[in-house]
Amino acid sequence: MKLWAGRFSKEADERLNDFNSSIRFDSRMYEQDIKGSMAHAQMLAAQGIISAQDAAQITDGLAQIYEELKSGRLEIDPEAEDIHMFVEQVLTARIGDAGKRLHTARSRNDQVALDLRLYLRDELKEVRALLLALIRTFAEKAAAHTETVMPGYTHLQRAQPITFAHHLMAYASMFVRDVGRLDDASRRMNQLPLGSGALAGTTYPINRQLVAQKLGFDGVMSNSLDGVSDRDYCIEIASAIATIMMHLSRLSEEVVAWCSWEFKFIELDDAFATGSSIMPQKKNPDICELVRGKTGRVYGDLISLLTMLKGLPLAYNKDMQEDKEAIFDAVDTVKACLATVLPMIDTMTILKENMRAAAAKGFINATDCADYLTKKGVPFRDAYKCTGALVAQCISRGLTLETLPLADYQAAHPAFEADVFEAINLETCVCGRISEGGPAPCEVEKQIASIRAFLDALEALRIHDS
Ligand code: ARG
Repeated sequence: MKLWAGRFSKEADERLNDFNSSIRFDSRMYEQDIKGSMAHAQMLAAQGIISAQDAAQITDGLAQIYEELKSGRLEIDPEAEDIHMFVEQVLTARIGDAGKRLHTARSRNDQVALDLRLYLRDELKEVRALLLALIRTFAEKAAAHTETVMPGYTHLQRAQPITFAHHLMAYASMFVRDVGRLDDASRRMNQLPLGSGALAGTTYPINRQLVAQKLGFDGVMSNSLDGVSDRDYCIEIASAIATIMMHLSRLSEEVVAWCSWEFKFIELDDAFATGSSIMPQKKNPDICELVRGKTGRVYGDLISLLTMLKGLPLAYNKDMQEDKEAIFDAVDTVKACLATVLPMIDTMTILKENMRAAAAKGFINATDCADYLTKKGVPFRDAYKCTGALVAQCISRGLTLETLPLADYQAAHPAFEADVFEAINLETCVCGRISEGGPAPCEVEKQIASIRAFLDALEALRIHDS
C-alpha cells in the first residue's frame, strides 16, 4: 500500500510503479536521508511539535536502520518508490505512530532537495581530495624536471623551448582553478532547503536555523518556492566537473601523443597500459582514451540537467527526479578518472633524451635567434625576416641553426657574431625565459613553491578541522 493511498481507490499499475520509482538510483542517499530526518525530528521535538519521546524513538529507529543498511543486514526493497518512502515505511513498521509523525511539517520536495545537497557535499569532498592529490603529483614530478628541455608546441608544430616541468605546472594551474570552482559551488550549495515544505512553507512553528546548524549548513534558503525548485547546484557542480574532465581529456590527448613511437617522450608503466588481442607489439594508453571518451558523457550529464530544467514552472515537477542519475554519473565518472589518472602520471617514465632530441629539431630557437639580432639594435620585424630566411636556408641544406656556419649568418646580417651560438643554445633559450610564469627553471620553481604552499595550507586546515 502506498503512503499516499488515501486519495486513491485503486492500486497503481505495475508499469507505473516501475516507471515512477527512483529507488534504483536514489538509495545511495540513505545516509543523508536518515541524517536529515534525525535533525528534522529533533527540531520538531525542540519546538514542541512532536513529543520528546517520539523524537527519541524516531532517532533510535533511524540509527538502527542506518546501521542495518550499512552492514547489509537490511536490504533496500526494489519495489519501494524512493529512498525517502522506504526509510519512512521501515521506520513506521518498526516503531508505529512515532514513525508516522516524522513527516510532520515536511514534504518529499524539500526532503529530496536536502538529501541531494548533503550527498553532493560529501561527494565533493572526495572529488576535491583526489584533485589535490593529483596537483601534488604534478608538482612533485615537475620538481624533478625543471631542466628537462622539451619542445613547446602551437598547432602541434614545434614552437619554442620549454621544460617538462613547465608543461606539468600548466596542468597543475588548471586543476587549482578547478578546486576553486568546486569550492564556489560548494559554498553556494550549503544552504538548507528543508522547511520549504512542498512549496509554501508550513504553518507549524518550525525552526529552520536549528536544522541548518545541526546539519552544518551556512544558512537557510530564503524562499520556500526556490528552496524546492532549485537545482542550480547540480548544474554548477556538473559544470565544474565537466571542466575538470575537459582538463583531464586534454592531458590524456597529450599523453596519447607522448607515448606514441612518433614522440616517445614518455613510457607508461606496464600496470597502467593495455595490450592488443592481435598485435603483440602493442602497449596502449587505454586509460587516456577512456578519460577522453568519458568527458563526452559528462558533458551529456550537464546538458541533460540544463535541458531538464529549462522548461519547468516552479516548483517541484517530477522531471526533477531525472537530476540524480545525471549528477551521480558526473560525480562517479570524475572520481574514477582522477583516481586512475593520478597513478598513471605518477608511474610513467620520462624519456628526457627524446624530449631534448625533439627540441633540437624544428628550429624552436628561431625566435631566440631573431631576439639576438633585436638586442643588437636590429628592429624586430627585420630580425624576424632575416631569421626566417636563415631557417629556409637551413632546411634546404639539411642544417639546423646550431650547425649553420657563422659565415652564413654574417652573410645574412652583419650584426651576427660568434656569440650567436651561445644565444641559440636550447638551455640558454629556456633559462633566459625568466618572465613571470615563464619556463626558466627559476621561474618554474616559483610556480612549484606557490602550489606546494597552497597544498600545504589546505592540508594544515584539514588536519586542524578534523
Ligand atoms: N523521488 C523523488 C525525486 O527524486 C522525490 C520527490 C518526490 N516528490 C513528489 N512530489 N513526487 O525527485
